[in-house]
Amino acid sequence: MKLCLATKNPGKLKELIKIAEEFGRDVSGLELVLAPAEFNPEETGKTFLENAIIKATEAAKLSGLTAVADDSGLCVDALDGRPGVLSARYAEGDDAKGRAKLLAELKDIPTEKRTAAFVCAMALVEPNGNIVFQVQKDWKGSIGVSERGTNGFGYDPIFIPDGLTITSAEMPTDDKNRISHRGQAWREVLASMESKNL
Ligand code: IMP
Repeated sequence: MKLCLATKNPGKLKELIKIAEEFGRDVSGLELVLAPAEFNPEETGKTFLENAIIKATEAAKLSGLTAVADDSGLCVDALDGRPGVLSARYAEGDDAKGRAKLLAELKDIPTEKRTAAFVCAMALVEPNGNIVFQVQKDWKGSIGVSERGTNGFGYDPIFIPDGLTITSAEMPTDDKNRISHRGQAWREVLASMESKNL
């Protein structure tokens, strides 16, 4: 099956193909393609799922293919869930600015109150707008007091997954994919496609 991934980012495409292959799904019949050049949805949703549906719906309409989209972010309990859906746009500038802003906001918060979760929503939508499947998964952890590690992206250098003492930027990519919010959600999407014979 040819499935449109609702992004123009080839890195994300590679990552999802790698996760699918690593987790024993038979993905030989699955061809993932990037969204068309005109793909430029406004992420106006108040929730991760709303944004995933907005993105998948636009990609499906433009491509004429069933499309899958993800929307993800970091929710920090001491900040009432912020930065949440605004994770990518939390600070003006790059990912490093976002991490610095978060560490500054949490500077007086003690370790036990620095709990957080990475969240990933995914939606599978047909060209006629029908939502075939939707899922949201989280990966719980806490926010460290300084940056550690160089793998990954975004908030990885300050996120310490529950049960570990290293940050997600110190984890090998395969280990992260095995337990991450995105890995969990994508495996459920693949399983739903299999069960629906898509
Ligand atoms: P999206 O592309 O709109 O889903 O935005 C996701 C944003 O959330 C990214 O730009 C990161 O800031 C953050 N984020 C989501 N997943 C991860 C992750 O696995 N590691 C680090 N940051 C993440």
